[in-house]
Amino acid sequence: MIGKIIGTRMIDTIEKLREEISRHAIDSQEALEEFRLRFLSKKQGEITALLKKIPTVAKEARREVGQQINELKRLAEERLEQARKQIHEGSGALAEIDLTLPGRPHPSGSIHPLTRTRYDIQRVFERMGFVVEEGPEIEDEWHNFTALNFPPDHPARDMQDTLFVEPSENGDDGVLLRTHTSPVQIRVMEQQKPPIRVIVPGRVYRNEALSFKSYCLFHQVEGLVVAEGITFGDLKHDLHVFAKAIFHEDVRMRFRPSFFPFTEPSAEVDIWWEDETLEGGGRWLEILGSGMVDPNVLEAVGIDSEKYTGYAFGMGIERIALIRYNIPDIRLFYENDFRFLDQF
Ligand code: PHE
Repeated sequence: MIGKIIGTRMIDTIEKLREEISRHAIDSQEALEEFRLRFLSKKQGEITALLKKIPTVAKEARREVGQQINELKRLAEERLEQARKQIHEGSGALAEIDLTLPGRPHPSGSIHPLTRTRYDIQRVFERMGFVVEEGPEIEDEWHNFTALNFPPDHPARDMQDTLFVEPSENGDDGVLLRTHTSPVQIRVMEQQKPPIRVIVPGRVYRNEALSFKSYCLFHQVEGLVVAEGITFGDLKHDLHVFAKAIFHEDVRMRFRPSFFPFTEPSAEVDIWWEDETLEGGGRWLEILGSGMVDPNVLEAVGIDSEKYTGYAFGMGIERIALIRYNIPDIRLFYENDFRFLDQF
């Protein structure tokens, strides 16, 4: 009778220990050792203590109690082994990470100097109320030349030799890589009524002798303003505002008479490039062509040239970037050499 009671008490104790063992948090080397000492130590462990008490259990209950204690022991050992693995794997992973190593570099991209210059040009004109338009790089001969008042066989076409995608039968119907952004003047005027105030950034192509200042492709920003009462004074004013914003407040610029079939009168604009090493302390660099839109061009797209006047300009983005960043050779822009690009 008494033995039975002791047997039941043992079973309660075993049950309690089983719960403790299952719930015991083992998350460090120290907790692991603590667990081992408390439950599995041969000398003072609680399971050993239980085993020692078996002789006090009633004979009929001993087998059962003994089995349960063995199970408890297995549970504790499993738990210990599992916890040991977890802790070692964790620290193993940590050991593979050397926290003293320098970080892996992430190469960070930056905006190409030509793109940056284009953005800066756009921003200046957008502040003056210009809208950005675009046109195709593969253009028809009519938009690139004829509509811009270059008659077929006119020698002005020779200055803009380019690749033809489809040959020209009559000087009007070829398809070519556009030689300037001016054909977009025509495309805009075909679609919009005055007042017009647009800039057109884009890539253009020419058969050039390659050198430090010329390449077979380059970029332009075209400008076109058509409204009532537009004069050459507006052109000069707007370009002066532009040059001050892009270069510096005291920029020196000059208008030099020139010729383009689609503007009359026409002018090229130069910027004074200061350079102590040059005789005279610098030199004039051409950055754009410009002029008053020729009445023939307005009439070709059905705009009344008695009512409306306009001005246009086309600037080379490369030229402006060369001056701004003091770059010696235009070809650097296209080679994509990191030693060059990293500097921007
Ligand atoms: N399209 C001309 C060129 O490429 C530049 C220009 C544009 C001149 C607009 C006058 C007006 O040389």
